[in-house]
Amino acid sequence: MALWSGRFEEATNEYALKWGASLETDKVMAEHDIAGSIAHARMLSEQGIISEQDFDDIEAGLGRIRTQIREGTFAWDERDEDVHMAIERALTADIGAAGARLHTGRSRNDQVATDIRLLAKELADDLLSENNSLREVLLDAAEKYVDVVMPGYTHLQHAQPVLLSHHLLAYFWMLTRDHDRLGFAFDAADANPLGSAALAGTSYPLDRDRTTELLDFATTMPNSLDAVSDRDYLLDLVYACAVSMMHLSRLAEEIVLWSSSEFGFITLSDSWSTGSSIMPQKKNPDFAELTRGKMGRVVGHLMGLLVTMKGLPLAYNKDLQECKEGIVDAVDTLLGCYIAMEGMIATMKVNRKRMAAAAGEGFTAATDIADYLAKKGMPFREAHAVVGGLVLECEKRGCGLEDLTLDDLRAASDLFEDDIIGTLDPEGIANARTTYGGTGIDAVLLQFEEAREVLEDDYL
Ligand code: ARG
Repeated sequence: MALWSGRFEEATNEYALKWGASLETDKVMAEHDIAGSIAHARMLSEQGIISEQDFDDIEAGLGRIRTQIREGTFAWDERDEDVHMAIERALTADIGAAGARLHTGRSRNDQVATDIRLLAKELADDLLSENNSLREVLLDAAEKYVDVVMPGYTHLQHAQPVLLSHHLLAYFWMLTRDHDRLGFAFDAADANPLGSAALAGTSYPLDRDRTTELLDFATTMPNSLDAVSDRDYLLDLVYACAVSMMHLSRLAEEIVLWSSSEFGFITLSDSWSTGSSIMPQKKNPDFAELTRGKMGRVVGHLMGLLVTMKGLPLAYNKDLQECKEGIVDAVDTLLGCYIAMEGMIATMKVNRKRMAAAAGEGFTAATDIADYLAKKGMPFREAHAVVGGLVLECEKRGCGLEDLTLDDLRAASDLFEDDIIGTLDPEGIANARTTYGGTGIDAVLLQFEEAREVLEDDYL
């Protein structure tokens, strides 16, 4: 019989019982449930609501259950509705009346809210530290290839030469904002709902701030109705996951492109690629593709949770049981993608020559030639048109801008002089962009300093 079966004359339908259970999903928060129960029981005994002996028995019993769960010897009973019931039942079977007093002044509604918050904080913590690791790998790669030039793109068309380090640092900053979002999600979860009981609080003289302190929450939630039914912090967490997945999917897409024969910019290590079962020559960027593809399920979990929460009347509703699975999967997915991305980036080889050659293809010096004329007094709009004409001429001849002679150039404008020759190599063009935040090596070195500082702070 269920722990709540007092007012029932018939047993729950077998199918309904299993169908409505959350035990399987709940197992990830078994230890959080035990921690929450020990804090609640300690506070109850300090308040004189249960005896010290009862508390000692509860703490010891829950300790034994925790050991069994860790060792895989705990006898889960699939007829238990959820982890809270399973543990309370086992505790009471072990220690008797003291176990049956544990639930005094508590409901599964504030209990589950507490457990999920403790879990959410732990999950956010895991993500924060893996995010740090990935950012470190990105910084190391950017440092290793600090002076490699590549084409910068807009519309995936060659635009202007940039440094590969600058390109990789762009992802560093995206992931830094993700770190901030994950930190926000951690803080959102960091408030204690315990002591709200079913929905309205309780007539027992609970000390809610004491369980806040024991469970290491930052604050005590001020409204019991809100406390038992709020899952905003899970939305914050899954949103942070979705945005970070979006960033990883962009990086993954570039890895897929760059490792293709058409680009040939990078070679993924054998350890982070796979082969084909039919085509012997294939080396596929599977793990980048998977990272790109897994974005879908995480966005799905974000949408799922938003829709689950929509229109729920106060306070607890069973719908809230649906909140957990998606979050755990979203976090697992992002963690896995962080790790895969670290593996790919840390072990890939950059084909410097191919990147540098591509950096000069596609008339990427055009802006700088226009700037050259503008700096000599020609209005920029006019210079733009002159250089547009040169590009057209090159296309007709099938050559690059660097192949034009001084005479060719002077035919377009007599502002061209000797000093134009040799200033149009991609590296020089990239490095001339010394504005704060630009791709020039001096600006990039400054950026490294800032990035290292930010990362160091985030490790604290
Ligand atoms: N298994 C439930 C959940 O995950 C626990 C809370 C159930 N409360 C209740 N009054 N039925 O949400």
